[in-house]
Amino acid sequence: MRKQTLWLKRATKMIAYVLVCLPYFVVTAFAQDFYLESPDKQVSTRVDVSSDGIYYQLSYKNKSVINPSRLGFRIKDQPALAGGFMVTDAQSSEYQQSWQPLWGEQQEINNQYNQLVLYLTETQGLKRQLTIYFRLFDDGLGFRYEFPRQDNLTEFAITEELTEFAMADNFQSWWIPAYRDQRYEYQYLKSALSSVDVAHTPLLMENDELAVAIHEAALIDYASMTLRMITDNHKTLVADLVPWADGTKVYTQAPMKTPWRTIQIADKAVELINSNLILNLNEPAELTAKPDWIKPGKYMGIWWEMHIGEKSWSPGKSQGATTKRAMEYIDFAAQHDIDGVLVEGWNRGWEGEWWQRKPTFIFDQPVAGFDIKAVSDYAKAKGVEIIGHHETAAGIQHYEAQMDDAFAYYQKLGIHSVKMGYVGTRLDGNEWHHGQFMVRHFQKVVETAAKYQVMVNAHETIKDTGLRRTYPNLMTRECVRGMEYNGGSPDRGNLPNHTVIIPFTRGLAGPTDFTPGIFNFDYQKNRPNNRVPTTLAKQLALYVTLYSPLQMAADLPENYMNQPAFQFIDDVPADWAKSIALDGAVGEYLVVARQDKSSDDWYLGAISNEKQRDVNVELNFLPKGKTFKAVIYRDAKKTHWKTNPEAIEIITQRVQSDDLLKLTLKPGGGAAIRFVAL
Ligand code: NOJ
Ligand code: CA
Repeated sequence: MRKQTLWLKRATKMIAYVLVCLPYFVVTAFAQDFYLESPDKQVSTRVDVSSDGIYYQLSYKNKSVINPSRLGFRIKDQPALAGGFMVTDAQSSEYQQSWQPLWGEQQEINNQYNQLVLYLTETQGLKRQLTIYFRLFDDGLGFRYEFPRQDNLTEFAITEELTEFAMADNFQSWWIPAYRDQRYEYQYLKSALSSVDVAHTPLLMENDELAVAIHEAALIDYASMTLRMITDNHKTLVADLVPWADGTKVYTQAPMKTPWRTIQIADKAVELINSNLILNLNEPAELTAKPDWIKPGKYMGIWWEMHIGEKSWSPGKSQGATTKRAMEYIDFAAQHDIDGVLVEGWNRGWEGEWWQRKPTFIFDQPVAGFDIKAVSDYAKAKGVEIIGHHETAAGIQHYEAQMDDAFAYYQKLGIHSVKMGYVGTRLDGNEWHHGQFMVRHFQKVVETAAKYQVMVNAHETIKDTGLRRTYPNLMTRECVRGMEYNGGSPDRGNLPNHTVIIPFTRGLAGPTDFTPGIFNFDYQKNRPNNRVPTTLAKQLALYVTLYSPLQMAADLPENYMNQPAFQFIDDVPADWAKSIALDGAVGEYLVVARQDKSSDDWYLGAISNEKQRDVNVELNFLPKGKTFKAVIYRDAKKTHWKTNPEAIEIITQRVQSDDLLKLTLKPGGGAAIRFVAL
């Protein structure tokens, strides 16, 4: 690691000083300009600090991606913190180090960037200080603000973050709207950037030359950032922080650092899936030893039968959570390579329309008919983990009052994993799911869970910003329109292209608990208008194309019995040595290969939208000179997601790294392959 400090003096002359080093800066009487390049020199940023403001600009391969864009804040009861600054010091450094996540898509991640830190002080008035960090990676830019300790800015409220993204083109954009009642659970819209009004991140944009995604990293004690179009030019997005119910964006105090604003760039959207920029911008975990209770794995659960209307969360005649049913799942899991069994509706408080009222859940008392002690002892004897469930119905106070006891209760029973949920349109009746209120609450959840040695899988929570690096018990989350919409949703379920969009958008944020693996397409008895919009082979392929360290086999055990295709779910791991998104186009098709972390085997998933297509896959990701047995699960000749989804062929062939594999993906179809090292 090399570090250089660039000394800057107050600019009083019109003469420009140019330092021909990385970065260089220019000082004139009116402006101080800085320039920084990525290690491979393909990504570059310019920062311009002048009396009227702070502006950054971003280029890729010498073309502007983001035109000069404003930085700064509005602060309650103070002047805006956005102009009249002098750069009192600027430091640049280079960094390169690789690190090994406890679990993930890769077992080794290279973290390489060039950094510029600007120390700013207002020249007049309150003389407040602001520090801005810029990190340029080969795959994009991260920047964050720091409010150092200072006299005139101690405890304060941010009423607006002024960060802008003046996009250089009217990119084709893939986005979901923010400030809607279903949180992140929407199908993606594809439109010109100029038609975006306010979007959640990651927001993906592409044109013929490049793809770019805006998101954030390390969201701690701050509001999440949505992106709002500034209507007078239709290409400039501004950070729109999700407010508290009183309209304030962030309550804070100096010293503090904001989350990183991230801009990932690549030639093609599929390459963004291979980016580690978000994880690299998070802090490493402070661990002295690898916690043995943190384990990626596959799970099943008493879940889909509720969503398709066969069973209910409510106690009584159609109660899903019974001792007997849980033991059936445990038996199936024990006979297969399934690590955990989730039980929803096991605790007290699920009577009737639980989502319509103030929560009544009790998190350490089982409902009649469910003997949690007997079930967890039975699971233990069979080598299966029980996965607990905390549905809060968005009642934060109600939940927090019980949270410690609830996790302690699980620990006592030997339960090391919990699925959480926040069904509801507002938290405690009036807070958004994405403001600082939720960020603070969820941080408490993750830390409390760790105290009691519990892994977290959260639904309807705050979006992922890579915090799993710092808190490795934070395994996965939903925050997407998942499989559940194919079960009970009155709007008929997801479109066939939905899972071909998610890895390029939501998936850039982190692991996605989408819950694949539906084998029985004939569940219309109670749900006449719903269906799973894929073929069976595509359900298998999703285990590779959608990343989650806790990956569900979502169907009922009886629907997996005597199904040769279940072998793929048995075999596929949930922890990887390497992952490569090989080929794809957003909403059209995607091909992903991953190497198992605990063997030499590789896996491949290829998925299509509603169209039939051939994909040619070069197998050059396999080690050279080695022979593999490829077990291929593919759509049959007449497979079609609408008319004949179950038809699947399972064939084996020998392959090597210089082979080309042609796969025919039927409408709504896919292919899943296990490459067994011979
Ligand atoms: C919504 C979750 O996404 C779903 O998986 C769960 O079954 C229900 N809430 C009930 O908690
Ligand atoms: Ca959900």
